[in-house]
Amino acid sequence: MRIAVYPGSFDPVTLGHIDIISRSSRLFDKLIVGVLNNSSKIPLFSAQERVNMIEDAVREYPNVEVQSFDGLLVDFARMSHATAVVRGLRAVTDFEYELQMSQTNHIIAPDIDTIFLTTNLNYAYLSSSVVKEVARYGGDISKFVTTLVRDKVLDKYNITAK
Ligand code: COA
Repeated sequence: MRIAVYPGSFDPVTLGHIDIISRSSRLFDKLIVGVLNNSSKIPLFSAQERVNMIEDAVREYPNVEVQSFDGLLVDFARMSHATAVVRGLRAVTDFEYELQMSQTNHIIAPDIDTIFLTTNLNYAYLSSSVVKEVARYGGDISKFVTTLVRDKVLDKYNITAK
């Protein structure tokens, strides 16, 4: 069984992330979305809230599971019996960070490889921070996230959906 892990902060999950989940779920028998709990970023949503939002968005993919994790990504991957880590590359600017991360992970765990998918052009500009920034100032985020995520983000900022 080919198992992969797709890790990230997902604060919150965007349509760009869901595009990567959808495409990589076709490449592996099982895809585990790993929600990082101990990020250096201060999250808007708790790990459980982030897991719940992703679970809602991936209901149509039977081979996708969502879990939160602490600590090293490679330990989480090994515990999940995964042999691959999936990451999305949006632009050249992602490359250096991703290269460093995948090479470090490969040195710690040579049995685990990182697979990169280039992000759908429609979402090349998108990040969780952009979503939060637009929402905070009253902008419409419905083209960036699912309806549930939009409502949860607006709730956090005490904004009523237009
Ligand atoms: N579509 C839209 N946005 C995307 C995206 C895509 N396909 N891919 C990445 N992003 C955005 C994210 O929304 C996020 O935006 P933000 O910075 O505005 O929040 C940004 O790109 C990068 O975040 P993300 O993909 O969530 O990664 P991350 O940098 O938050 O987390 C981990 C990366 C979890 C893989 C990494 O920190 C990790 O492995 N941590 C565990 C500790 C460890 O093992 N460290 C050693 C690694 S060398």
